[in-house]
Amino acid sequence: MKIIKTKSPAETIALGKRIGRLAGPGDVIALIGDLGSGKTTITKGLASGAGVENKNSVLSPSFVLIKEYHGRMPVYHMDIYRLDERSAIDSLGYEEYIYGNGLAIIEWADKVKDILPPAFLKVELEVAGKDKRIIKLVPHGERFKKIVNHL
Ligand SMILES: Nc1ncnc2c1ncn2[C@@H]1O[C@H](COP(=O)(O)OP(=O)(O)O)[C@@H](O)[C@H]1O
Ligand SMILES: [Mg+2]
Repeated sequence: MKIIKTKSPAETIALGKRIGRLAGPGDVIALIGDLGSGKTTITKGLASGAGVENKNSVLSPSFVLIKEYHGRMPVYHMDIYRLDERSAIDSLGYEEYIYGNGLAIIEWADKVKDILPPAFLKVELEVAGKDKRIIKLVPHGERFKKIVNHL
């Protein structure tokens, strides 16, 4: 586990980028935190580190639930904030994304804990002031322990 404090959106994006550079096909990153805590912001960095060229194309996918970007590998950006019903979650066909060959990044992952694979990186974001965020990286599985140690 590692706790990192950022003092600006740019710092959070930079952290995401460092993680995204180490990410590989099939990896899952679970983002947890209140509205405005920085989940979409860190996703810009994660996608950028994973080779997605225009990080500004990374916006909250709330209305479409899943967006796909093209980097070194497919990057699936999911936001399940609006998904309240279990049946709606199942109808997404999420397995294809979470157990596929891309990097899956899931905003509000705490709502779908049971669909997460055994190995994933949990990222908890907390607002600690106007521009301050406390970001807790909790690795699940050996691969993510190594990644977190390398940061
Ligand atoms: N240190 C920081 N890290 C991330 N976002 C920050 C930070 N400081 C301020 N912000 C602002 O907080 C907001 C975070 O929004 P967003 O990333 O969309 O959150 P979420 O997806 O968790 O709802 C943005 O307006 C961003 O500019
Ligand atoms: Mg968001």
